[in-house]
Amino acid sequence: MSQAHAYVRNYFGRFREQLDDLLRIPSVSTALEHVGDVQQAADWLADDLRQMGMTRVETFATSGHPIVYAEWLGARPGAPTVLIYGHYDVQPAVLSDGWRSDPFEPTEREGFLYARGASDDKGQIFAHLKAAEAMLASGGPPVNLKFLIEGEEEIGSVHLGDFVKANRDLLRADVCVISDSGMPTPDQPSLVYALRGLVTMEVEVHGPAVDLHSGTYGGAVHNPAQAIAEIIAKLHDETGRIAVPGFYNDVLPLTDDERAELRRSAWNLEDWKKVTGATQPWGEPEFAIHERTGARPTLEINGIAGGYYEHGFKTVLPARAWAKISCRLVANQDPDRIGKLVEAFILSVAPPTVRCEVRVKRGAPPAFVDINTPAMKAAIRAYEKGWGRKPIFMREGGSIPVVADFQKELHLPVILMGFGLNDDGAHSPDEHFSIEMFRKGIDTAIYFCEEISASV
Ligand code: BES
Ligand code: MN
Ligand code: MN
Repeated sequence: MSQAHAYVRNYFGRFREQLDDLLRIPSVSTALEHVGDVQQAADWLADDLRQMGMTRVETFATSGHPIVYAEWLGARPGAPTVLIYGHYDVQPAVLSDGWRSDPFEPTEREGFLYARGASDDKGQIFAHLKAAEAMLASGGPPVNLKFLIEGEEEIGSVHLGDFVKANRDLLRADVCVISDSGMPTPDQPSLVYALRGLVTMEVEVHGPAVDLHSGTYGGAVHNPAQAIAEIIAKLHDETGRIAVPGFYNDVLPLTDDERAELRRSAWNLEDWKKVTGATQPWGEPEFAIHERTGARPTLEINGIAGGYYEHGFKTVLPARAWAKISCRLVANQDPDRIGKLVEAFILSVAPPTVRCEVRVKRGAPPAFVDINTPAMKAAIRAYEKGWGRKPIFMREGGSIPVVADFQKELHLPVILMGFGLNDDGAHSPDEHFSIEMFRKGIDTAIYFCEEISASV
């Protein structure tokens, strides 16, 4: 065992406690009342990076949440530089959403650490911090290290794209590693080679000028809550296919080889039912579940509202109704183009008896990574050492907006080396992270640096 791995054994107890401290900070990026907490999480990380001996540590303010940057450039001449990206912001969580313990009071149960952000992404990025600490304390890492940890990933990485463009030199590296995804089972590591993109939009349907008496006017005024339901009902056909003309134009078909490799990350139906709680799968019948989420685009109603929903009844015809819609994108689909197509379709099916507004937000493109690079080979060897098993390649349905920027602006090969599990409950109540995966993740992050150093 190398000195760095021995260090991990010796200090793992403290690493666990430190992760608790980080998880206690409710760094919810979407909530205005948590602005100070998000800042606190950034400062906490910067302090830890400084303490472990990273030579330059800075938190960059943005007009949103801060970006933490750290570097150590003391490796042998010619050694590669590894850029490690992650996010310290988390999704909202309150006990009453159905958590068994307070989401911001980390609790250990049966080998899992329960807390918001435990897996997505504080636990996973923290594994890389502790790997760096172990290497710094053991004669120095075999590669140069740069950390880029942001606080806005869960709200679409609003300011990170511009930061990357403006700081190409600062972020120059040979490879980027991201641990912000999961694997199918604890003993089957995986490398993700595709992430979906995303475009979001708000739809607002206006009917009468104010809420009206539904007795006096009902039957003669088009109810906006009904109108929005009519619009939404037209967005998919009976088979689950999106009805927007041109929506699938830039979707590439899966090859037979790809389908065969992806079958290895297929869901077991009973597990899938247990994890989702759904009675049965839904969607395009010619695609398996993991293909629907990995290789097919979606149009999803994230929320819909309108009218009275408090106690009892209020017999009104509401003045307006709204919906929040998002599309997950794959292959060559462009978020701006898809946003425009969906907007135009919604406006074309909106009945003339109401006024319909669509506001499309800035999206994130889908991402693909080349699986035949030296860096990927190093990642495979790192997993073989850390997990004792060859990783499989899989596609993920989620999005990490900055991946496309790293590729386009920095020309970096990106390695999506997740340490989570698919059923960690990211974004759900009772999110958790396996303590064993945390430990193996630290080891694997060290192996990756060793392997990539040896290969260059
Ligand atoms: N870590 C996830 C992305 C992810 C999910 C990767 C599942 C692999 C598997 C990330 O934190 C996330 O949730 N991203 C958001 C991005 C969005 C707000 C632009 C998402 O996918 O909804
Ligand atoms: Mn994440
Ligand atoms: Mn997330």
